Amino acid sequence: MAITDHPITAKAHTNIALVKYWGKLDEQLIIPQNDSLSITLDEFYTQTAVQFDPNLAADEVVFDDQILSTTDSHRVRTFLDQVRALAHIDYRAKVTTQNFVPTAAGLASSASGFAALAGAASRAAGLNLNRRDLSRLARRGSGSATRSIFGGFVAWQQGHDDATSYAYPIDEQPTWDIAVVALVLTAKQKKISSRVGMKRAVETSPFYPAWVTASQADFKTMKTAIETQNFDLLGHTSEQNAMRMHALTLSSDPTFTYFNADSLKAMKMVTDLRLRGIPCYFTMDAGPNVKIICHGNDAKHIAQHFQTAFGQDHVLVTRPGAGISISD
Ligand code: PMV
Repeated sequence: MAITDHPITAKAHTNIALVKYWGKLDEQLIIPQNDSLSITLDEFYTQTAVQFDPNLAADEVVFDDQILSTTDSHRVRTFLDQVRALAHIDYRAKVTTQNFVPTAAGLASSASGFAALAGAASRAAGLNLNRRDLSRLARRGSGSATRSIFGGFVAWQQGHDDATSYAYPIDEQPTWDIAVVALVLTAKQKKISSRVGMKRAVETSPFYPAWVTASQADFKTMKTAIETQNFDLLGHTSEQNAMRMHALTLSSDPTFTYFNADSLKAMKMVTDLRLRGIPCYFTMDAGPNVKIICHGNDAKHIAQHFQTAFGQDHVLVTRPGAGISISD
């Protein structure tokens, strides 16, 4: 095994969870409390180049054209340490990342970010990991990154240790016409990170055990919905599951929420559209942005409806996206 003599670039897309991961069994290894399931999105992605260099004294991380301070690059450097340990090397690396995602606003930039970093860093370190092992490695950076290795509909099997907790594809190239309309209600950094938020739920929400039971049932239902291409079952289950997750934030001590006034307005608009006979459902991750799951041929019409309320630039139509790609 040898490090590459040129940078390796990887591109990974974000994903939106239809059945959420919210809570860890093992904080160190990032083993979740439940299985989760997502859809990888084509519009939002991260592109990362990595090269290990014997002449470098320290890791250098450039994020969207800015050199990160040692503090800001801590998570990336810790992740590189794991890659170095796997590859049995001790060289420092130069990492250059471009994010095509509004960072930390609940559009899962950590998912695409750590998936792309896992792909580029492992290959640059001379490792040639299969996709399952890449998903295990990405998991160590951020739980949701586990699923961004694959395209289309993806499950993350909870597992019980590092070897058994990984993602696998359910339907990499969906043949049904599905779209996600993303509302970027704010691109600001969230105040409570998913790491802190989920830890608080596990430790303080009296509803937490019920969440684990309910989300495991949602996972099974969601798999059936995908296998049978049952859009309403998929939409209904994802909306239910999202609200169950957000009920954990509300029931945590101290209580908090990722909703803002626009999130509530958008969710009500989705429900109203549905009452008017347009099949669409909402979901939200750890931020105020709302994503609307709909049939592909309704996406334009739905997007226009939300553009009128939130502005042209705040509404994006996305479709199922591809899994990770790594340059040579
Ligand atoms: O992996 P993290 O720390 O980005 O947490 C992800 C949490 C959710 O996005 C809310 C749910 C999920 O399964 O992606």
